[in-house]
Amino acid sequence: MSIFLKNNEEIKKIRIACHLAADVLEMIEQYVIPGITTGKIDHICHEYMIYKQNVIPACLGYKGFPKSVCISVNEVVCHGIPNDDQILKNGDIVNIDVTVIKDSYHGDTSKMFIVGKPTVEGKNLCKITQESLYLALNVVKPGINVNRIGYIIQKHVECHGLSVVRDYCGHGIGKNFHEEPQILHYTTRNNKIVLKKGMIFTIEPMVNIGNHHVYTMIDGWTVKTKDQSLSAQYEHTILVTNNGCEILTLRKEEDLPPLLINN
Ligand code: MF3
Ligand code: CO
Ligand code: CO
Repeated sequence: MSIFLKNNEEIKKIRIACHLAADVLEMIEQYVIPGITTGKIDHICHEYMIYKQNVIPACLGYKGFPKSVCISVNEVVCHGIPNDDQILKNGDIVNIDVTVIKDSYHGDTSKMFIVGKPTVEGKNLCKITQESLYLALNVVKPGINVNRIGYIIQKHVECHGLSVVRDYCGHGIGKNFHEEPQILHYTTRNNKIVLKKGMIFTIEPMVNIGNHHVYTMIDGWTVKTKDQSLSAQYEHTILVTNNGCEILTLRKEEDLPPLLINN
């Protein structure tokens, strides 16, 4: 196995896939309100991807995943399966994770939505999690060890008394949904990977209010916090440039330029 560096032609295609994935998150915002089911949200995303965008929902059928997007509510950490019986209510924190395939290339992104009136804890958790992703984006450039990303995320999260999930990580992406390198959101010894121009990967920290332990439910997908505490996640797909990175899945609502110069 090896890390694929992307050429300009591939970058163009992945950029398009990423913009479309981000567009799904922008489109769905208006529907994430009290009373809607996660099944209905999935259905709206599915129809939009197939008929409006002409993309393939990458999650659908991926290793047997049954729906088109992942929807993870409250103590669900990731890989939540949309369900017609799961009704969203005031204060819920909801991650919607969208991956599309366009012209054989993937784009992967997720964000948190707060349903109706936010709770103090929910809002704070989402804020710190997004900040940890943004801090990481601000250190990415050729020549840095991939550990820097994990270090900066873990430091910010733990400073605020929260914890970083260890069992899932960011990943290279392209023709494959998941490829090398693995992008850990915490530090480990012996991580020798150095970033190079042309790498494309996701950063997608999962952060819990309680401890970092998680388990997978008997459905084989739904990952929850062991202590039932709330969990949040934000994910961007990025390209390593000459002197920083390009946020390929940036949304209009975000207060960041697409090209970050990190000298
Ligand atoms: N989108 C997830 C990620 O960020 C992966 C979801 S896999 C699925 O890597 F099968 F659950 F959809
Ligand atoms: Co991902
Ligand atoms: Co994702």
